[in-house]
Amino acid sequence: MPVMTTHVTRSEAAAVTPGADEPTRHLIRYAGDFPELLVDNAEGSWLTTDDGRRILDFTSGQMCATLGHGHPAIAAAMRDASGRVVHLFSGFLSRDVTELARELMALLPEPLARAMFLSTGGEANEAALRLAKLHTGGHEVLAFAGSWHGMTAGASSSTYSAGRRGYGPAMPGTMALPTPNPYRCPIAHCRDRCDLTCLDAGMALTDAQSTGAPAATIVEPILSAGGIVPLPDGYLAELKRRCDEREMLLVVDEAQTALGRVGTLFAFEQHDVVPDVVTLSKTLGGGLPLSATVTTDAIEADTAAKDFLHITSHVSDPLPAAVGRAVVSTVVAEGLGERAIAMGARLREGLEELQRRHEPVGDVRGIGLMVGVDLVTDRDSREPDAAYGSAVTDRCLELGLNVNIVRFKGLGSVLRIAPPLTVTPEEIDLGLEILDRALCDCR
Ligand SMILES: Cc1ncc(COP(=O)(O)O)c(C=O)c1O
Repeated sequence: MPVMTTHVTRSEAAAVTPGADEPTRHLIRYAGDFPELLVDNAEGSWLTTDDGRRILDFTSGQMCATLGHGHPAIAAAMRDASGRVVHLFSGFLSRDVTELARELMALLPEPLARAMFLSTGGEANEAALRLAKLHTGGHEVLAFAGSWHGMTAGASSSTYSAGRRGYGPAMPGTMALPTPNPYRCPIAHCRDRCDLTCLDAGMALTDAQSTGAPAATIVEPILSAGGIVPLPDGYLAELKRRCDEREMLLVVDEAQTALGRVGTLFAFEQHDVVPDVVTLSKTLGGGLPLSATVTTDAIEADTAAKDFLHITSHVSDPLPAAVGRAVVSTVVAEGLGERAIAMGARLREGLEELQRRHEPVGDVRGIGLMVGVDLVTDRDSREPDAAYGSAVTDRCLELGLNVNIVRFKGLGSVLRIAPPLTVTPEEIDLGLEILDRALCDCR
């Protein structure tokens, strides 16, 4: 891999072609440069590289491996399903698909009653938005200015945190709502609390722009790419009320938050709201591509009558559904939600202790095992320190800890810490120790 010196410009660096024997020689860089490591195997909270380095994985892969890597229940489900049936004609069903739907509905509140199973989070949101458009007859979709809902066309049109420039027009009718981040109030109104004035302002702007064709509002209950921002108390219930007034559906995207990470099985349960549509993805497959779009009987019946179409090659595939069943039953049987609260409290306590000693740690926030550490140039201005954030994550990796930084423009420079729910207390303590050292080394 080429060594990049600081006087090389970004476009010069990007133009460097790796040597023929470089492992990345024939790969497209889809999110910047690749780190200089190749993972050979993974177990529990640990990755091992092909040259024998061990790395503590506090990103749970891409936030999917909530049971940890190589969980025996997932391995058994894969073995069993691969010996029976992996993939089918998209109109056919298998027992694992019908049972996964039944098992999920037993955990979700009424009137949520119907699911379809796809592969990725983007696809599940795409299906949710198509359902909403067909059901309402509208096409306007609201999403937070700090959102991430996926890379497919509809989902990326409602993704404002990154990736908007350079790809042509977004879907007509997509509009942004201010992200209700009390640490960085989007309308410079509150500090450290949210009185929902940003929701008033956002709704007034969208009403002004609307051509009278509302369809849906799609939100993450804890914005992740937007800087680990849990929705403030009362926000989601009020948003649901505003959606109902406008006859638009509320879609809650639980890609990262479902199935225990925040204590409850679904994050929306902490807000006393039942959305019209819920999407599940990352955590449902535990590392395999599995997602779900869930809605009510009434919306399903209406859209079926209108010939709803959302067929993909892997809709209702049996193998990922079998794995999804194993994930759901393991989360419930092993009480991983309660574990996330206990391990999250230990993590949080340690991070708050680091905050007392490290001036750039401006804020520690999150719920359960989904925690953000907001790094700032100074605690008064709260200016995001992107350079420090990058240096700290790089140093953590050198020291054997994989943490992620979310630092999209205007949204902060936030370490996203989300270990598997099976993480041990010793692993939490080790992660904190490494982070402490990296915070020091990079000052
Ligand atoms: C909240 C949220 N929704 C949707 C997605 C998209 O999921 P996928 O990458 O599986 O399409 C992501 C991915 O990071 C996400 O964080």
